[in-house]
Amino acid sequence: MRTSQPQTIFLKDYRVPAFLVDHVDLRFELFEDGARVHCTLAMRRNPDSDSSDKSLELDGDSLTTLESVSLDGNPLEGSAYEDRDDKLTLHEVPDQFNLGIVTWIEPQNNTRLEGLYKSSGMFCTQCEAEGFRCITYFPDRPDVMARFRTRVEADKTRYPILLSNGNDVEKGDLADGRHFVTWEDPFPKPCYLFALVAGDLVEKRDSFKTMSARDIDLRMYVEPRNAEKCDHAMDSLKRAMRWDEEVYGREYDLDIFMIVAVDDFNMGAMENKGLNIFNSSCVLASQETATDMAFQRIESIVAHEYFHNWSGNRVTCRDWFQLSLKEGFTVFRDSCFSADVGSPTVKRIEDATMLRTAQFAEDAGPMAHPVRPESYMEITNFYTLTIYEKGSEVVGMIHTLLGADLFRKGSDLYFERHDGQAVTTDDFVRAMEDASGRDLSQFRLWYEQSGTPELTVRDEFDDAAGIYRLTIDQSIPDTPGQTNKKPQHIPFAIGLLSADGQPLPLKLTADDAEAPMDCVLELTDASHTFEFHGLSERPVPSLLRGFSAPVRVFYPWTREQLTFLMSHDPDGFNRWDAGQRLAVDVINSLVSSTGENVDAGLVEAYRSLLADSSLDQALVAKMLQLPSEAYLIELADQPNVPAIHRARERVLEHLARSLRDELLACYHRNTLSGPYEVTPEAVARRSLRNTALAWLLHVDDEEGRTLAISQFNESDNMTDRMGALRALVNSGYEKEQEQALADFYRQWKDDPQVVEQWFAVQSGSSRTGGLRKIHELMEHSAFDWKNPNKIRSVIGVFAGQNLPAFHAEDGAGYQFLAEQVRKLDDSNPQIAARLVSPLTRWRKFAPVHGDQMKSALETIRDKSGLSRDVYEVVHKSLAGQ
Ligand code: TRP
Ligand code: ZN
Repeated sequence: MRTSQPQTIFLKDYRVPAFLVDHVDLRFELFEDGARVHCTLAMRRNPDSDSSDKSLELDGDSLTTLESVSLDGNPLEGSAYEDRDDKLTLHEVPDQFNLGIVTWIEPQNNTRLEGLYKSSGMFCTQCEAEGFRCITYFPDRPDVMARFRTRVEADKTRYPILLSNGNDVEKGDLADGRHFVTWEDPFPKPCYLFALVAGDLVEKRDSFKTMSARDIDLRMYVEPRNAEKCDHAMDSLKRAMRWDEEVYGREYDLDIFMIVAVDDFNMGAMENKGLNIFNSSCVLASQETATDMAFQRIESIVAHEYFHNWSGNRVTCRDWFQLSLKEGFTVFRDSCFSADVGSPTVKRIEDATMLRTAQFAEDAGPMAHPVRPESYMEITNFYTLTIYEKGSEVVGMIHTLLGADLFRKGSDLYFERHDGQAVTTDDFVRAMEDASGRDLSQFRLWYEQSGTPELTVRDEFDDAAGIYRLTIDQSIPDTPGQTNKKPQHIPFAIGLLSADGQPLPLKLTADDAEAPMDCVLELTDASHTFEFHGLSERPVPSLLRGFSAPVRVFYPWTREQLTFLMSHDPDGFNRWDAGQRLAVDVINSLVSSTGENVDAGLVEAYRSLLADSSLDQALVAKMLQLPSEAYLIELADQPNVPAIHRARERVLEHLARSLRDELLACYHRNTLSGPYEVTPEAVARRSLRNTALAWLLHVDDEEGRTLAISQFNESDNMTDRMGALRALVNSGYEKEQEQALADFYRQWKDDPQVVEQWFAVQSGSSRTGGLRKIHELMEHSAFDWKNPNKIRSVIGVFAGQNLPAFHAEDGAGYQFLAEQVRKLDDSNPQIAARLVSPLTRWRKFAPVHGDQMKSALETIRDKSGLSRDVYEVVHKSLAGQ
């Protein structure tokens, strides 16, 4: 437990390590009451370090007992070193030596889920970012890369499977019913990529032939009850391996690639070298237990972790300020993969939605930070949407600016130049510059400046000259610690449409003969004016096509223009975007004047979407989703949450009543026969059908009720079953809803991933998920304070998705969340700090809410022994004015 105020770590203080580790020899003795870790480090002074300090400092955290220290085989007296809570200091060491350390740790009591811990009876590890120091004393920083040899010893009956990174080189039996396996990883790696697993697991095997015809052993390890839920992840893995060869020329390097599923995990998954560890909910799937969304998420996370083998492991981060070097690039890679194997437009819509809803909010809040931060207290707090999603957008903009071929030249150069090194985001950009010959010096501001750029677009049409002028002003709002920002280099993709919906050539000069139908304008100054020639009428602009940059665009669209773009823009993303903007505008006008009617234009626009089956149904499925409450709140100044909720509900009700026949027709038209498949087409049809059902039940349509009940009882897949359950939970049919929830639980109570979905559908429902319901769910026997997925599916979903309940007038939602954070802070600070996030935006809300949120934060601040994780978030949220 912390006693003093946590220190801030600064990028500007980076120094190369004073000592390097060439080799790590580990021996784990695993027992029920603890584990003994024997660690031998082959160390030498770093020739690149200018430190003349004779002493050696190693990091440690929560290590129960330091049993012994030896230097070159000789046990050291206690006076030769100092053993503090978080540091082991050896007063004097030679230039080259072997250091032996034996520690005793207690994985069975590790509730933080960092380092070595137990999850449903098995041992597993999570070492990123700074978990290795919870296993043994070590220079725990990513620029110290070493070869690891790991011997794992445990009881053979309880733990028949013993895994670590690399290849198994030796195994055998030991006395007392124990056994061991020794693993050797030939690739030097930072300790955050170390992994160990020991358990009673079933093994699923497959293989992959690489581009150079090497056969790779693919193995998944899961608890026996999950044996039938591995196929999808395995198939996804093989697709990802092929894709990385084809698109990036990257081949897998070890002979074995392993994936392990664990139920207790703080994040989604971890790219440990050759031994990826996954949160069960991000890897296990069967048609009966996982929704289409889960299937797609699993595919992208499996790909993400696999892609890290090159973007993260072979080339890793110099320090944690460079986190986006691996995360931004790897998210970009997994997004392109998902786009290629699915529907590119839909994937772009999903990424942009996430960014505009949640990352823009982060950028506008007290934790705003650049893609490459300058300081942090607790690095785990910086595994953010900014590092991941905005970081991915930044890489994507380089891709847009260079084009696919030069981008590939750049990534080839990056991997070749830096293979085996720990590098910076600047090294990445330099490789892109060197390969392409482009100057990205201004572009680098995307890594340095935080905040979301705002583009204000004005236009005018010169009838006589046939010239259309587009003026774009950019500015970036102030963020904590950053003011007066410089203009950034922004790729701004556009097109122009004629009044009859035809794309117009973009003539930047009067005699431009080969004018394209779309183009990427490059914004570099605070203001730019572009002229388009040879136009006979005022065009309708299609702006920021494909969401070509993570920015906000302001342009005075009329509802007519938006309706027009919804049906005519050749850019699918912008069709969707026009629909969203129209819906936002309609909902917002009801927020401000409750007497107003729902715009008939919106109803007609949705009517034509529902009627026209020649349209891309995957896009239609997305267009029918109204903007979320979270997005509407993000767009508003001092949002009135209950009013936003009511206005959105009114629009939904009005649409459902006005379009009842179309919804029923859509429902029936999209009923699938034949085996369940997760193709973009089938996913779109299930999504459309479930949206239609949800809308019908929203207004308690009797026919809808009948359809929902039979769909709930008869469907052969979780997407449809959950679609029906969700529709019932959000309807007024209380009896049917209770029945369905009870049936569902009875059927699936032994499957944690399904129980989590059952929790989430209730805690996220504004109809049923009031605080009383949340308390009830937390008292349910399936709820588990030690399991992050359960906490997320009840408390996280309540505070993040059930917004009218969370923002209830009396402030009870805020107090409730603060209470849970205080409680969780002792057992799992990482999860506690993530849970605080909805409260951090208190300044955005009108004082009636904002003050209550603030005082909830203060009750967390006042807890004694607050973790560094929660301390940082709470203090930064309350700081300044
Ligand atoms: N590197 C992991 C990923 O993005 C992230 C991760 C997994 C993580 N577990 C963690 C980060 C625990 C911090 C703490 O794929
Ligand atoms: Zn990652």
